[in-house]
Amino acid sequence: MQPVTCSPARGWLGFPPSEQGGPICSSPLRKYLKRESAVKKFPPQHFSITTLNIIATITTTKMTTTTTTIPTLTAHTHAKSQYTTTSSRLAARLSIHNYNTHPQSWFQFAQTFIPKSGSILEVGAGTGALWSPPAISSPSQLSSVTSLTLTDFSPAMVATLNSNSDIAALKSILPNVKIQQCDAASLPFPDSEFDTVVANHMLYHVDNPIAALQEFKRVLKDGGRLVVALNGLDHLRELFEIGGMVGRGSTIAGLAKITAENALEQIEGAGFEGVESERFPGEFRLPGVEPVLEYLDSVGETDMEEGKRETVKRVVGERLDEGEGFRVEKNMVVFVGRKP
Ligand SMILES: C[S@@+](CC[C@H](N)C(=O)[O-])C[C@H]1O[C@@H](n2cnc3c(N)ncnc32)[C@H](O)[C@@H]1O
Repeated sequence: MQPVTCSPARGWLGFPPSEQGGPICSSPLRKYLKRESAVKKFPPQHFSITTLNIIATITTTKMTTTTTTIPTLTAHTHAKSQYTTTSSRLAARLSIHNYNTHPQSWFQFAQTFIPKSGSILEVGAGTGALWSPPAISSPSQLSSVTSLTLTDFSPAMVATLNSNSDIAALKSILPNVKIQQCDAASLPFPDSEFDTVVANHMLYHVDNPIAALQEFKRVLKDGGRLVVALNGLDHLRELFEIGGMVGRGSTIAGLAKITAENALEQIEGAGFEGVESERFPGEFRLPGVEPVLEYLDSVGETDMEEGKRETVKRVVGERLDEGEGFRVEKNMVVFVGRKP
């Protein structure tokens, strides 16, 4: 029995989609894969996940083979590796919003599409930033809301929501604020329960967005409102261009089944009507290299090594514009639709 390590541990984030499916395992496993029968049984894409630092243990006794499960890399498996055990990666990424040039924050902008009445469900609520200042400046803004249900599939996010003091403040004035762990694909709520369903920057993490959208439709009342936020493929282009140089490129391009570009047809395909969209204006102006390092660290399993950090520092330094900072394009879009 010989353990074989598949590597690189953090490589795929920087690889274009065409390179994500190739076999990435070294020596004995690779040799084994070359055997026709093995390749037939485990096609190359079976070995596409590299971020999880997979250890495949192969027992070769008269070519009888036992392997541990090697998950295929999908939007969902990636989300699980990013979010299940910690909310700190998301928190680190959210700090890029501090450098937004638009006078409104993203969360303030997104809130303008959410009616402040009736029952509201947020799916994939993360750390609860949509319900904290500056998005909600005072809990009294929500006094006409009859219920607010914040959900996420990640136990770590649910723990963060439970300890969020802004959510606690909401609970003190709203009788019906609930936090629940559940998956977007299978919501534990009856049909026609909510007036509004919000999915803010989460649908690109599910493997079947149309099925999730249909689930959102199921729990919405007739005439209820869907609010979905997504990114375009060029979102944070300059940041991921540098990330690509150090194995920390964009994940959305290779894995997401839904982006701002194709969202309209999918939302309509799931049966929503009157779908409209609005792009969040402005861009990010980062004052120096630190926010870039923080963001790129957060997209991997661990922080970048020193050599890669030096590369990022050098390239950002070359692109920093005196007085203007490092300009990063954003492409964030809100879609609103109605259940017929
Ligand atoms: C990019 S974060 C956005 C969080 C939050 N909506 C925000 O804008 O700050 C995506 C969130 O979706 C959650 N998520 C990913 N896949 C999910 C699923 N299948 N069901 C429910 N939540 C999911 C993650 O745990 C994470 O909190």
